[in-house]
Amino acid sequence: MAGTGTAHLRDDDVLLRVEELVVEFPAGKGRRVHAVSGISFDVLEGETLGLVGESGCGKSTTGRAVIQLPAPTSGTVTLGDVEVSGLKGEALRQVRSELQMIFQDPISSLNPRRKVRESVAEGLRIWGRSREEVDAKVAEVFDAVGMNVELVGDRRPNEFSGGQCQRISIARALAMDPKILICDEPVSALDVSVQAQVINLLEDMKRRYGLTMIFIAHDLGVVKSISDRVMVMYLGKVCEVAPSDELFADPQHHYSRLLIESIPSHDPDARLEPATGAVEMPSPIDPPSGCRFRTRCPAAQDLCSSTEPELREVRPGHFVACHFPEVGGR
Ligand SMILES: Nc1ncnc2c1ncn2[C@@H]1O[C@H](COP(=O)(O)OP(=O)(O)OP(=O)(O)O)[C@@H](O)[C@H]1O
Ligand code: SF4
Ligand SMILES: [Mg+2]
Repeated sequence: MAGTGTAHLRDDDVLLRVEELVVEFPAGKGRRVHAVSGISFDVLEGETLGLVGESGCGKSTTGRAVIQLPAPTSGTVTLGDVEVSGLKGEALRQVRSELQMIFQDPISSLNPRRKVRESVAEGLRIWGRSREEVDAKVAEVFDAVGMNVELVGDRRPNEFSGGQCQRISIARALAMDPKILICDEPVSALDVSVQAQVINLLEDMKRRYGLTMIFIAHDLGVVKSISDRVMVMYLGKVCEVAPSDELFADPQHHYSRLLIESIPSHDPDARLEPATGAVEMPSPIDPPSGCRFRTRCPAAQDLCSSTEPELREVRPGHFVACHFPEVGGR
């Protein structure tokens, strides 16, 4: 897809490169949901990249496309020097073990009929490891997430709280020795009192296992605290990518500005509800021409409906897709 620009970094430490990723779903009567429309970005070795935007903007679809579940409609995903998007069968399974994902609903992401130690061991068994190796790894990862497998391993998911199930999901992901952990709203379904514990655990695990993370969330406060860089999405497109501090201090895209202004400073649990008046997010089946944000943008001009803005690097490592970022800026 021409004209969308990229947010690629000139950096030797790029671990994951996503290029021109497109994901579309059939929507009946020959129509298609344009869930992700040609986005390009990098994830650096050892960083946490936060992924934010309103519900339906394509965050989960992007995360799933990285692990090829489902495979994207087009575009490439490259991990190190391996092009994941070209792989099939055993080779895909092998590289997928290096890309682990944890999901919003921890209870339903574990098999309800299985003992939790079996769920955590499942991926390891596929690789034909000995029983001793599997048992040792399972004990290690339960221990890492603060649980004793001897005490809890034979229980089933419904015997645990949401926070405990999320710990088990994290253990299951860690068991595979991933390079990248994709966390899709990992605390959104948890009680507020438990959210900080799970976030702290993820940060500990990142340090201990040398992980790289993609962290998807609605909660900008959480994203701000956990991310090195942040990517803002709107209706299947990337609006802005920048170092976290810079994005929150000086957002350049009008959508990012509205999102950030919508965080009530006194409420650490604030949800994303940008002040875009009564104008609803357009349908991804029939997105607006030009800049997809134009129907809600306070600075939109004629050019915005005729021409899609490219992502441009406005400062080192700070990319923005807007024709008129200076209008109404701070
Ligand atoms: N399997 C599917 N079939 C059809 N449409 C889908 C499918 N999965 C996602 N979509 C659509 O693709 C768009 C992007 O969805 P996605 O779940 O990626 O958004 P999101 O940013 O993760 O939203 P949320 O914050 O609510 O989790 C939405 O319009 C959604 O309805
Ligand atoms: S000014 Fe134009 S290009 Fe920039 S965000 Fe608004 S509508 Fe999009
Ligand atoms: Mg989602």
